[in-house]
This record gives sequence, C-alpha cells and structure tokens, in this order.
Amino acid sequence: MSELTQADKDSLTGEPQDRSVEKEVQEAAPAKLSAVFPSYARYDISLVKGKGSWVWDDQGNKYLDFMCGLAVTSLGHAPEKVGAKLKEQIDTLWHVSNLFHIPGQDRVAALLTANSCADQVFFCNSGAEANEAAIKLARRYHQKVKGTGRYEVITFEQSFHGRTIATLTATGQQKVKEGFLPLPAGFKTVPLHDLPALKAAISENTAAIMLEMVLAEGGVLEVQQEFLDAVVALCKEHGLLLIVDEVQTGMGRTGKLFAHQHYGIEPDIFTLAKGVASGFPAGVMLGKGYLREAFSPGAHASTFGGTPLAAAVMEATIETMLEDNLAQRAADMGEYLKGLLGDKLADTPFVKEIRGKGLLIGIECAAPVGDIVLAGQQRGLLFVQAGPNVIRLLPNFYVSVEEIHQAVDILSELIHTYANNGKWEAGS
Ligand SMILES: Cc1ncc(COP(=O)(O)O)c(C=O)c1O
Repeated sequence: MSELTQADKDSLTGEPQDRSVEKEVQEAAPAKLSAVFPSYARYDISLVKGKGSWVWDDQGNKYLDFMCGLAVTSLGHAPEKVGAKLKEQIDTLWHVSNLFHIPGQDRVAALLTANSCADQVFFCNSGAEANEAAIKLARRYHQKVKGTGRYEVITFEQSFHGRTIATLTATGQQKVKEGFLPLPAGFKTVPLHDLPALKAAISENTAAIMLEMVLAEGGVLEVQQEFLDAVVALCKEHGLLLIVDEVQTGMGRTGKLFAHQHYGIEPDIFTLAKGVASGFPAGVMLGKGYLREAFSPGAHASTFGGTPLAAAVMEATIETMLEDNLAQRAADMGEYLKGLLGDKLADTPFVKEIRGKGLLIGIECAAPVGDIVLAGQQRGLLFVQAGPNVIRLLPNFYVSVEEIHQAVDILSELIHTYANNGKWEAGS
C-alpha cells in the first residue's frame, strides 16, 4: 500500500488546500448545470466499469468496492451466471403485462418461499415499493378480511423505509420528511427498544408494527432479541401484523438468507429489494398464506413488477446464493472482517464500537466520518456512512481475505490519521 499523499492528509485534517487556480477557471467559465435534478449530493467520481470487488472510474482509477451500490451488488459486479441469464432473456422476451402468467415469477416465488417462512409473493421494483405493498397488504387484511377499521403502522426512530410519501412517513428520521407536508395519516414512530412507548402507541387502530432487524441507514443498530420477542408477543396479543423490512438486510447480507432468521421469529410480512437482483431494479413483498385473500385481483399492481427480465435476474441471483451458500460465506467473512478491524482499531479511542451482522458492518466513531469516506476514495477504497459518525462497510459476498486485508489496512491508516489530527476530543 502506498503512503498517504499530501492531498489525502489535507482532506483528512481539513486544512485549506490551494483552490485559487480552480476558482479562477470556474469564474471564467461557469460550469454548465446538469439537466438532472440535484437531489443527490454526489461524490466527484464517475464509475464506468465493474468486475467482482472492483470498479473503475472514467479516468481509469481503480477502487475496491466496500459499499456495493449500497448493499446491492452482493455477488460482486457483473456476476457471470446472472449476466448470462440476463443476456439469454434479452434475446427471448423482455416484458409482458402482469395480466398474463409469467413463469419466471413462479420460479422465483418458489425459491423464496421454499427458503423462508413466507407462502405468498408480490413483485415490484424497489425497496420503497415493497414496503408500500406491505403497508397496503396490512391495511387491506384488517379492513377487507378481518372487517375492522385498523390502519395504523407503528415504526421506530432512526429507521429507514423509503422515499415515497407513505414510506418516508413510516421512516423514523426527520430529515427525509422536511418540505413534504402534509404527511399521510396512519403512522406512529416510537424509540427503538422502548417497550413502554411501544405499548402506549398501540390502539384499536393499530394494524401492524414494522421494523428492520438491523437499522442500517440509522447507524447499523442491531435490534435486541429480548425487545423483538416482546414485539412478537404484543403483535399476538393485539392481533397486529409484524412487518420486517429486509430491503437492506435480506438476501444473505447479515449472514443468514433473511436477518429475521437470526432471531428465530416468523414475520407475517417481509420485504426485499437491493441484493435480490444483483443491481437490476426489483423489489419483493412476501407474506404468510393467511394474507392471500387480502390481495385479491385488482387490489394491487405494478406494470414492471416481476417482468420476464427482472424474474430471470432474480432467479439467477437467488440460485447462485443458494448453490454457493453465500449467506454462510457472508457470516464467515463478516466475522473475519470484524475481527481484523477490532485488532487494528482497538488502540484508538476514536473508534467507539464495531458492530453489525455478516457483511453489514458499522464502525461508530467519536466524530463525523465524512472526511474519512472522501479520503478513502482518494486511496481507492469505497465505503459509506450510516448517519454522521458511523462508517458502514458492505462488501460483496465473494470478497477475498486478501481484499479484506487491503481494505482494513487503508481504513486503519485513515482512521488513525484522522484520530491523531486533534480535531475531536477523546471521550467526546
Ligand atoms: C431498510 C430499507 N428500506 C427501504 C429502502 C428503500 O429502498 P429503495 O431505495 O429501493 O426504494 C432502503 C434503502 O436504502 C432501506 O435500506
């Protein structure tokens, strides 16, 4: 590994760099505004190629990818078997309406239900849509099947469930709601692990409780077994549906095919997206058989949900995960990565905790980590934050021991440099 360059050090210490030349150029010729809405705070990198654990930018720079499109490319970039299936399907049939049977959907549904507690599957295109479908199914079950007026969904602070109007309302983070008022009725949010608050929030209107098993965007916070057991008991006691959002944790990411399997519970409904199709847009909502009637014909639909193309990619992705026992590999490599991080970072009080399950790992630091993420990019390592102070690592499931060592060497050097720059206070 090469030493830190001066630019790396400047960016880590936050020292002002000489931008005068750049500024003159900008003043002489203002940059043309992109025609894309600026809704993303984008990094100044354009990635154009990927293979396995590696991606390349348009300048030819190579990066070790420990973010995987945010937990999406779990089989690595351009996985061959999935690519071959996609190419074959491209030459066969891209799209037909869901008014027809789509055999690929049945095969994917069979794979998912054979390997989970679910009996029924609905296909859509994203995580937010899968959660929308879950919320709709819960309401419709209570209103149409049970004949009650229940509609409310209880969620938890720091959760993330998506960006549609309903799912951002369900999300337990104020920042995603700003400027989008009025929010729809029917959602309550309580602090995670606060059983009295949860009990107090339940009323005769409550239809469901929805949560992630590891609050990924919220800081890689693992739900405690005892609390989850109490949630399950409350659902039973009050006739509520339990919805588990597995959009980020699902499909092997936490070291089991579905994160709720760590806890020995069976949700009524759970949702998938991200890792289910290796980067092809797809979402899935799964439920127990007794919910089937609630989604009678016409109840819910999606033009693009589970098209022949999406189904082919999902099928190849799931088959590969099962054949190569990738959930177990994620568990093993996750343990190895966490152990190595512990060895290399135990000496600095800047690191407060290393946590997570499988290959969804959070390093909680004593100060904001945005500069460390940027410095990582300059050193050829991609990773993301989960909230201001947490570094999140999401490598692919085939990541090698050597790649893990490469990533940890870079991270350790960056974190130690930042920790020693005196801009934060030990114990803060
Ligand atoms: C737990 C969870 N739920 C839902 C979503 C929303 O998924 P999408 O961006 O595909 O709509 C995300 C995205 O990060 C997520 O992490």
